[in-house]
Amino acid sequence: MQHILSNCCCNIAIQFVALYVRGMVEKLGATERPYCNEAHAIHARDVHFDFSSVPMHYIPGEVLATHIVNVMHLVLPEGERAMAMALAEALPHIDDPRLREEVQGFVGQETMHANSHDQARQHLQSIGLDAEGYVAKIAWLIDRILGDHGLTGRAKEEWLKERLGLFAGMEHFTAVLGEWLLNADILEEKGMHPTMLDLIRWHGAEEVEHRSVVFDAFMYVDGSYARRARTAILAAATLLPVFIVSTAYLYGKDPSTDKGRFWGWQFVSATARGVIPSFTTFFTEMPRYLRPGFHPTQLGTMDKAIRYLAHSPAARSQS
Ligand SMILES: [Fe+2]
Ligand SMILES: [Fe+2]
Repeated sequence: MQHILSNCCCNIAIQFVALYVRGMVEKLGATERPYCNEAHAIHARDVHFDFSSVPMHYIPGEVLATHIVNVMHLVLPEGERAMAMALAEALPHIDDPRLREEVQGFVGQETMHANSHDQARQHLQSIGLDAEGYVAKIAWLIDRILGDHGLTGRAKEEWLKERLGLFAGMEHFTAVLGEWLLNADILEEKGMHPTMLDLIRWHGAEEVEHRSVVFDAFMYVDGSYARRARTAILAAATLLPVFIVSTAYLYGKDPSTDKGRFWGWQFVSATARGVIPSFTTFFTEMPRYLRPGFHPTQLGTMDKAIRYLAHSPAARSQS
């Protein structure tokens, strides 16, 4: 009887240890997995774009689609700067040397994205798309909402975790959009201006390349599933209206006398032909991101992104 009891206790202890270890592995998985599967360095590329020959409607015959892409030049730079600042703020909380290196590379890449889109916006402004007032409002709003608010102590840490959760959710959508951009052959078929095409594909490829960084930083600094889910839903619920309002603004500001068919028809048609990604992505991607075991490396291979970055004219022109 004593022998049976001792065996039983032993089995329970082994199972308990196994469960504990599995729990720890699952908990740590989010930060350790990318170092095994995607062990490449993230670094900012010194890209150069010449926008001087880019026309107002750089996707010929696709006015609305052009302005949907334009949202990237207006809204993303401010968001990317806020993200770079939050990640820089997270650095002192990260001891893992590999993750620190990735975060530093990420900050450099996002800063470069923001600067390049800013140049594109300035060019469009110079040829008649007046959006300076709107950009100033977006910058003010992002600073008010996503800034550090001068907090200190525990409140500062909590706010940092909250922003990391939000940005991890947003980075999921930019990675998905990046994959789409790399595969959207229709943009070449439509004759999209090569400089703008290179700008969005280079950006898309780097979004795919650094897709795990904010998620890993969030998991390292906080890792709470409740916060991950809540902030991701909030990120999706914010991004969609921002895209709709910004596109409507740009379309209205377009000084061209001929903007083609009714904008609603252009939207349906461009979505059906795959000239723009479907807005339903904001909903269909949520279940995947909200899976407890989700990690950005599950999004698929990044071969195409890495290959594009090796050939991107802007990336190759770096001095
Ligand atoms: Fe970016
Ligand atoms: Fe990004």
